[in-house]
Amino acid sequence: MGATLAVLDPADLAAACDVLHAACEHDRAALVAEEKLFGVSPRGTPKTFGARKGGILVGVATVCGDRIRLLAVHPAARDEGIGGMLLTACESEVWQQAARRVRLLDEPGNYLAPGIDLSNQATIAWLERKGYVHRDQHTNLLVDVRTNPRVTPERAAESAARCAGLGYQVRRASRADSEGLSAAISIGFGGAWPFEIERALANDPPGVHVAWRDGRPAAFAAHDGNNQGLGWFGPAGTWPEHRGQGLGEALLVACLVDISARHDVAEIAWVGPRDFYEHAVGIVGERGFAVMTKDSPFRRATIPPV
Ligand SMILES: CC(C)(COP(=O)(O)OP(=O)(O)OC[C@H]1O[C@@H](n2cnc3c(N)ncnc32)[C@H](O)[C@@H]1OP(=O)(O)O)[C@@H](O)C(=O)NCCC(=O)NCCS
Repeated sequence: MGATLAVLDPADLAAACDVLHAACEHDRAALVAEEKLFGVSPRGTPKTFGARKGGILVGVATVCGDRIRLLAVHPAARDEGIGGMLLTACESEVWQQAARRVRLLDEPGNYLAPGIDLSNQATIAWLERKGYVHRDQHTNLLVDVRTNPRVTPERAAESAARCAGLGYQVRRASRADSEGLSAAISIGFGGAWPFEIERALANDPPGVHVAWRDGRPAAFAAHDGNNQGLGWFGPAGTWPEHRGQGLGEALLVACLVDISARHDVAEIAWVGPRDFYEHAVGIVGERGFAVMTKDSPFRRATIPPV
């Protein structure tokens, strides 16, 4: 019996959760299903395809802009061409927007993971057979927030007091800070960070801590903006003129203390400065991710200048 493809809407969420739960052994996709399948990102509103066999949903794939945000087929329905069918449907959406390249997963602002988990070699090999190349690599760091002596409310308070001694007020941001904070982060850092900050601010309590000086933000850190509920840390940034004074560390600890209320381990996503995290709170594990990309078959050949 062949599979049929259709565009899904939020009414399909429960069935889609079942597929994700069974299919995604490397990521906690089912826990953030609504955000991944139907949530917006700075790239816009996604389109989610579902594959059904005999009326039962067996595969899902979400595409947004030039990113395939998610692709999963129930293990009981694999090796029947369903994954390939979903992949082709997503790629067609991307090529219709005249994008030159499609990428999997690392969609700024709304990503299940910043690439395919390197231990998911079967999927990486499958994508390579479909014409994808391993173009980049990203890392997530794991931090113990349950038994870590460097992640305690006392240390957060001490760090904030030390910052106060340097003239900075470290406190949890409120929704009233939203407009000014987003504008400042937009100018200072840009990208998808203001989007993630807005999402983190909407949590209860807001998942954003800020160091202020003279009424202006000097540093910020957030958690649970992307993958809400999974205890992911980021984004975080200190404006260049305020670096080297322990603000980043104080805000990191404040966020990790928040995360410890619901999780044993925090995941620091898509990291840059590994040494900073190692030094500040210690690292207990690491996840590597492959960024897989494929160039459009409709790319025009470059015409050499005459
Ligand atoms: C990767 C994944 C989506 C592939 O799904 P799938 O439905 O098994 O994929 P396909 O059936 O299209 O392809 C699998 C093989 O079956 C073959 N196949 C069997 N019958 C087929 C048919 N009727 N038509 C086309 N291909 C067929 C394909 O050629 C392919 O062979 P290959 O692996 O040698 O290239 C699936 O393994 C999965 O869900 N993995 C876990 C989730 C995940 O990691 N997703 C990525 C991050 S979100």
